[in-house]
Amino acid sequence: MADQGIPTRPLHRSRLAFTSRPRTLRYAHIVGWGFEVPSQVLSNSDLEAIVDTDDEWITTRTGIKERRIAEPRETTTSLATRAAQKALDVADLLPSAIDLVIVATATPEYIFPSTASMVQDYLGATNAGAFDLSAACSGFVYALDMAASKIRTGEINCAVVIGAETLSRVVDWADRGTCILFGDGAGAVVLQGSDVPGGILSSVLRSDGSGWDMLTLPTVSSRDTYLQDGLHEMHRIYMDGKGVYRFATRIIGDSIKAALDQAHLTPDDLALVIPHQANQRIIEYAAKTLKIPVERVYSNIERYGNTSAASIPLALAEAAGRELLKPGDLVAFVGFGGGLSWASMVVEWSALPGRPARSLTWGRRQGEYALAWLRRPLVRLWRRIMLLSPQAIARRARERAEAARDRAQAARENLPTPALPREWPRRDDAARRGEAARREPAARQDEPPPTDNGA
Ligand code: COA
Repeated sequence: MADQGIPTRPLHRSRLAFTSRPRTLRYAHIVGWGFEVPSQVLSNSDLEAIVDTDDEWITTRTGIKERRIAEPRETTTSLATRAAQKALDVADLLPSAIDLVIVATATPEYIFPSTASMVQDYLGATNAGAFDLSAACSGFVYALDMAASKIRTGEINCAVVIGAETLSRVVDWADRGTCILFGDGAGAVVLQGSDVPGGILSSVLRSDGSGWDMLTLPTVSSRDTYLQDGLHEMHRIYMDGKGVYRFATRIIGDSIKAALDQAHLTPDDLALVIPHQANQRIIEYAAKTLKIPVERVYSNIERYGNTSAASIPLALAEAAGRELLKPGDLVAFVGFGGGLSWASMVVEWSALPGRPARSLTWGRRQGEYALAWLRRPLVRLWRRIMLLSPQAIARRARERAEAARDRAQAARENLPTPALPREWPRRDDAARRGEAARREPAARQDEPPPTDNGA
């Protein structure tokens, strides 16, 4: 039925690559996990010196006692890389075996390059594609779903999926309603393809963009009008706390139930729920709506606060490290946040607890990290040398001459300088405007004089 309407044609050579891939769907299993948090701790009492708040208010309203804050030398990339290395240790895989690196983050170091590209380079994952995924606090579940889909089709075999944040750099430290909530950290998992049933069973991704302004972090091309009310600031988190709380409690149970329905399961089948760590009250509400004991809903918010896209993989790595999951256990993830966006996933856990972290591959992995470290300056040096090749020198001279010719022509036509870069005329527009300006005086002479009624 799905093929109805698609005309059949003889197979072209270019489509053979697809047909040679495995035809049966594979399973995407979580085989490695790791997390990294900065060592610097900011407790609730430390916060009392920064804003008008107190430990009691923060603890009762949010469940948070402390959060980690990145040192100046720590970045989203460095935390993500370290978490990924730990996940590769558990999976006992080589960086060169990775086909895809996805980093879910709301605090990338750059809009581009992607954090994932830099992590790929630091890991020495020379056979991997890499991209960042932006879905705020739901980002990790979205990213896991993307990677799992590619594994299921047989297109790739191994992916590293990371959630990483340095939210302390975008928190408004004068706003006591938000600065008490957020922290820094990273968590990562390694996903691997297998014909053995299990792994990621179902996922449900959702968004309601009509609530976009409830949780924002404006950046380079934000609407100017949005930033003029004194409430919002460039590169600073703004949150309508009550609105987000209502949204989170409305979707959290239904979203998990939708993912469970897809896998023909019920909340009672779940060994563990790992929700986004936004607020202890929201976490407890999830247990209530699912009608499961609160102990089955994992929480580490007390120690790390809300680490956005990093919170689920961080909690998962901690739970797996504590051997709270055993093969055959069913675990659900649920993320929610800016967008508004939310996502749930059900996973059948397949990794053995306490997998050997060190093996023969450990040495080869360290070798690949060392090679990546050496490769970086060498490749950059090689690029500089290539710039000195006779062809490159000739090309740059040609480009310079062309630019000078354009400038001279523009000066001859005396083009006005536009006020804003976004109004900068394209080269063909400029030529047309020059042409029109030359014709205009002659045209005016032919025009009839205006009448009194303007007709
Ligand atoms: N310390 C002390 N008092 C504070 C405070 C702080 N850090 N922050 C706010 N208050 C005050 C307010 O000024 C207000 O005082 P008022 O009644 O005199 O005006 C009072 O406490 C209640 O504030 P309110 O914003 O209504 O608190 P709340 O119960 O809604 O809790 C949040 C605030 C942020 C903890 C809560 O709304 C929340 O968790 N929202 C969801 C956030 C979230 O999940 N975000 C991430 C999604 S990814």
